[in-house]
Amino acid sequence: MPTVDDLVIATPGAARLTWSGGSGNPRIVSLYEQTKQLQWNASTDVDWSVPVEFGSALPEDSTFGLSAFRSSPLLSRGRAAWDAFRWEFHAWLASQFAHGEQGAVIASARLTEVLPDVDAKCFAAVQVADEARHVEAFSRYVRDKMPSTYPVAGPLASLLRDVFRDARWDITALGLHVILEGLAMAMLRMANHTFHDALIRDITRLAARDERRGAQGRRREAMRAGALRLRPQRTIPHPH
Ligand SMILES: [Fe+2]
Ligand SMILES: [Fe+2]
Repeated sequence: MPTVDDLVIATPGAARLTWSGGSGNPRIVSLYEQTKQLQWNASTDVDWSVPVEFGSALPEDSTFGLSAFRSSPLLSRGRAAWDAFRWEFHAWLASQFAHGEQGAVIASARLTEVLPDVDAKCFAAVQVADEARHVEAFSRYVRDKMPSTYPVAGPLASLLRDVFRDARWDITALGLHVILEGLAMAMLRMANHTFHDALIRDITRLAARDERRGAQGRRREAMRAGALRLRPQRTIPHPH
């Protein structure tokens, strides 16, 4: 049963079945093959017995973070306050990964409904499985290893609303492959310097490997499709 915290968005898309076969686009067909072969299992390929000592002292491994701390009001509270803040940020970031990945599951699933050819639908369908693993791994990490889950951040919720409210598949593709996954890749790169335990580093490494697979090509296609769609709206009418 949904709680008040669930994000419920009415989606206007139509499900499209096509009888004209695949596009034969070799890049999409090869991405589909690769994705099938490189599936991993979040239950067994991640060592969940690795302990995470929430709140323990953290190493001084970030010059940028340390200088930010030294010029912040936290300085007067001492180093322990900085570590406490970093652990909370860690829990917040891991929670946002779990929420964002759920958005990616739904966006990929919508693409299976609306994409106009079978090859692209199949590729989107295996991507649903990729994203489901990411949801599983990040959610389990937060549930089992963090004291609590942070709710979805406002800007992420707005982005998901904007992407899912639009019926056009190229806008869904643009939202998923360019914005959501572009953001995820930037955050995964940042996570390497932000997260300090071996377990979450392993999860982010596996998720980043999936995200990198064909990411450039998918983004290029999505941008091309989205740009074609958006171009007429951006055109300023000629005065007569
Ligand atoms: Fe993902
Ligand atoms: Fe993804």
